[in-house]
Amino acid sequence: MASKTIRFVRRGELVSVGNVPPDRTLLEVLREDLGCTGTKEGCGEGDCGACTVVVAEPHQGALAYKAINSCIRLAHSVDGLALWTVEDLAAADGTLHPAQEAMVQCHGSQCGFCTPGFVMSLFGLYQNRVCAGQPVTREQAQVDLSGNLCRCTGYRPILDAAVRMAELPPVRVDEAQVLAQLEALAASTATSPAADGDYVAPTRLADLLALRAAHPDAQVVAGCTDVGLWVTKQHRHFPRVLDVTRVQELRRVETYPHHIAIGAAVPLTEAFEALVAERPQLAAFAHRFAGLPVRNSGTLGGNVANGSPIGDSMPLLIALGANLVLLSTRGHRELPLEAFYTGYRRNVLAADEVVAWIKVPRPVAGECLRAYKISKRWDDDISAVCLAVNLTLQDGVVRGVRIGAGGVAATPARATEAEATLRGQPWTEAAAIAAGEALRTQFQPISDMRASADYRREVLGNLMRRFWLESQGTPGVHLESFRLEAVSP
Ligand code: FES
Ligand code: FES
Repeated sequence: MASKTIRFVRRGELVSVGNVPPDRTLLEVLREDLGCTGTKEGCGEGDCGACTVVVAEPHQGALAYKAINSCIRLAHSVDGLALWTVEDLAAADGTLHPAQEAMVQCHGSQCGFCTPGFVMSLFGLYQNRVCAGQPVTREQAQVDLSGNLCRCTGYRPILDAAVRMAELPPVRVDEAQVLAQLEALAASTATSPAADGDYVAPTRLADLLALRAAHPDAQVVAGCTDVGLWVTKQHRHFPRVLDVTRVQELRRVETYPHHIAIGAAVPLTEAFEALVAERPQLAAFAHRFAGLPVRNSGTLGGNVANGSPIGDSMPLLIALGANLVLLSTRGHRELPLEAFYTGYRRNVLAADEVVAWIKVPRPVAGECLRAYKISKRWDDDISAVCLAVNLTLQDGVVRGVRIGAGGVAATPARATEAEATLRGQPWTEAAAIAAGEALRTQFQPISDMRASADYRREVLGNLMRRFWLESQGTPGVHLESFRLEAVSP
């Protein structure tokens, strides 16, 4: 089976790489095929950011830049995009880019292993904010550097560098040139389509469904932020990959009177933006979903389809009453998210079906919603326990209740027993404590490296008490100030 040649724009030139297997990672292509060893490999699983590169694609007449983890991104996924690695920032005469110069001036590097990744995340921040005339605050820098770990310098000098780079003489990407090159690339691809192959990225929904029906054995991928680990950690091979991220119909967020529909190919950054626009109290929770490079690549549809019991979006979506729309050439069906899962990473998806949309009800009067993530680190960590509670209160009585839980069962789960204790009851502290007890009895979590079973059960009940206190206007933990302290040396 033929492997389509990968073509992307780099350093103002068109790069072509042929015969790339469908499951080869972008980092492997960069380091081993192109000899660009400036990009480092640390964890190989999207946690450390050493492998960060920046990609861009046209969006509303300009370039939209995203820092991504090259270690878990499949190489074919950058076909048709512009790409920057750490080798591409300095000028031909060796003058450093502001992102690099600021790191030097602020002493942001010691052993230097993390530095290329930090510089690339800073470059993404530079393109998205400095070049757009927006200030770079330390808080914004923390968001953009949330996927980069440094084990020796400490974060203060790196955050200093993020602020400093905006004050240095500006350097601009020649966007008009890159856009013209991307346009020419897209035009040449359109005139010579790879109708089929071992890595297929259709742009139309009808083509996706036909390809899925024809190749039920293909590995479906979106941002690859979990499937990428199957490659790097489990050494699995995929003879054929079906990439959903180019399907235009699935890249949209649509707003209707009673719900929003989030396409399965919408990146997590945009999906959370849409959710936070409806419910601002979710901002901190959204920020804590992995690090920015993972949110830039991963999709809400991928997180849901993947079905990890510690995936953070599902408890929230269950609490919100989200439905999934599944599509195939045979038609469509819609079901509540909690009915999608049948066991550990198993679901009801037929071999010819794909997850197409996630339908999220819009807020109603009396809604009281919180989502809690308990993990050892604030940024870029996996939940030990995740709990989302959504009450609809009328005159102090619980008229509606949905609770989603993660990290406490083989699948993301709906806490039906706790819901039953609350439905129709006055919202009191005693009711919250009873619901917490029901949470502790419904779930039998396991002990693993993140937490013990006892800890998880204890936390479940405590989170219901916290929810009660917050519903009464009692200030909770000052999470934002905790976050600032957590990154200080
Ligand atoms: Fe650690 Fe890629 S090598 S995120
Ligand atoms: Fe050594 Fe960051 S400078 S890990």
